[in-house]
Amino acid sequence: MKPRYACPKPVKVSRRKWPSRMLRQSPVWCAVDLRDGNQALPNPMTPVQKKRYFQLLIQIGFKEIEVGFPSASADDFQFCRDLIEQNLIPEDVTISVLTQAREHLISKTLDALKGVRRAVVHVYTATSELHMKFVFGKTAEETKAMALDAVRLIRDGSRTKLAGSEILLEFSPEEFTDTDLDFAVDICDSVIETWQPKPGEKVILNLPATVERRLPNQYADMIEEFMYRQKRGEQSIISLHAHNDMGSAVAATEMALLAGAHRVEGTLFGHGERCGNVDLITLVLNLQYLGVNTGLTFGNIETLRDELVELSGIGVHPRHPYAGELVFTAFSGSHQDAIHKGLMNADALTKHFGAWKVPYLHIDPRDLGRSFEKFIRINSQSGKGGIAYVLQQESGIHLPRPLLQDFSASVQAFADKAGREVEASELIGLLRAKYVLQDSPLRLLNYWPRPTAADPTRIEGEVHADFNGQAYTLSAAAQGPIAAFVRAMQQLPLPFTFKLDEYEEDSIGSDEDAEAVTFVKLSNSAGQSRYGIGFGVNIDQAAVRAIVSALNGLLNGK
Ligand code: KIV
Ligand code: ZN
Repeated sequence: MKPRYACPKPVKVSRRKWPSRMLRQSPVWCAVDLRDGNQALPNPMTPVQKKRYFQLLIQIGFKEIEVGFPSASADDFQFCRDLIEQNLIPEDVTISVLTQAREHLISKTLDALKGVRRAVVHVYTATSELHMKFVFGKTAEETKAMALDAVRLIRDGSRTKLAGSEILLEFSPEEFTDTDLDFAVDICDSVIETWQPKPGEKVILNLPATVERRLPNQYADMIEEFMYRQKRGEQSIISLHAHNDMGSAVAATEMALLAGAHRVEGTLFGHGERCGNVDLITLVLNLQYLGVNTGLTFGNIETLRDELVELSGIGVHPRHPYAGELVFTAFSGSHQDAIHKGLMNADALTKHFGAWKVPYLHIDPRDLGRSFEKFIRINSQSGKGGIAYVLQQESGIHLPRPLLQDFSASVQAFADKAGREVEASELIGLLRAKYVLQDSPLRLLNYWPRPTAADPTRIEGEVHADFNGQAYTLSAAAQGPIAAFVRAMQQLPLPFTFKLDEYEEDSIGSDEDAEAVTFVKLSNSAGQSRYGIGFGVNIDQAAVRAIVSALNGLLNGK
């Protein structure tokens, strides 16, 4: 079948080493948010917004920041001037500016840099046949001549116009991944030769996947082969600049780093033309996960995300790696159960595996300033583990297993009916309504469990209760206050007999203000059973309340 698309052919590789390498070293990072990212925003940022963005990039730790295209926009020109004149560029940060390879644009670009301490001038020419021939009507020779003329102009212009500044060169053969590799190598070697780097100085050769037209392994092959064929490799820094049209920019960049590249250009959240540039948040955090010290920090990712959404006007997908609202959240029962167990045993797991590892969680969310609080959320797919976790986190209540089973059926029925997520407050409301607050038709007025003088474990007390609107005084006599209370309740004119089947006590809190919690299960002569939960300052009080609530449950059939 004739192919529909003219995909570039794989390059012939003389050797292929990258697949068996490991990523251990951090590349140099260059954030191009303020140029490539900004130019693709529906509403490009104002100078004030760009300044804020610039500060955020510095806080994250970027040491190289492309700040704009000064010859293409008055705003970019002014922004560059403001950064320099207002002394906003930290000493260890180098800005870069982009220019086309045209004389008047280069001249304007150099004007924008007057007074800068150190900067990169980034010049580009398209080198693919598609662009050279069909967009610009140029041959490869003409394109090369244009690139080299531009390099001379930057070199000579910066010596005169920017005499006190350190100016470095970056060259991009645009559409590198669709360019004949020998031509790319030749033009890049010639650029270095023309620039004449000082001893020890290197030229940045930025090799972009301007449009992602290849699979990531082919990008890596091209980078490895380019570096292999270079004549002036030791005078260059190989930089990656991947766009995300096939959704593989992160993988492509990772593989190209394995192939030997030294530097990466990208944007936060991948802002950029079409499907964007490589997303530096995902890429950097992937490397950090692998143990690479990237020099960048995303310690408060939610605040950063919200601020970037505001500045860019573009939202972040809730499932965006690391930063999306839902990426550390589990809805399904089996996942919740596993996460719950993992988190409860996190220390033991760390000890066993030698480092942090929890089921269904890629990294520890706390590393990104995210807490575990809202990570397990409840809907109709949720199971007991999730419900137990949310209850424990939100209210400190740790339900016994059978009661949890009983409760999760009610939660699922509620979620099915509501057709949406169940909030933690609703979960607690459901629990209270079903097990805690049932106080009709039976209402306890008071209970005085009095120990007898001869045997303090023997109770001979009194219960005052209201049942179906009528007041009762009942004698409570048995071994222990709870058994005595059950005996008293059994004297009421109930439509059934009942017994206490299960009883469990717990507490919320561990200091002197801890609250007692009691869980009970009652069953009646009609074959029904109900759970009740009671809270109180002491266990007896909590138990009595739990029994009354469960008894009302039996009476109401709820
Ligand atoms: O994607 C690209 O090729 C570019 C160049 C200007 C480097 O942004
Ligand atoms: Zn780009």
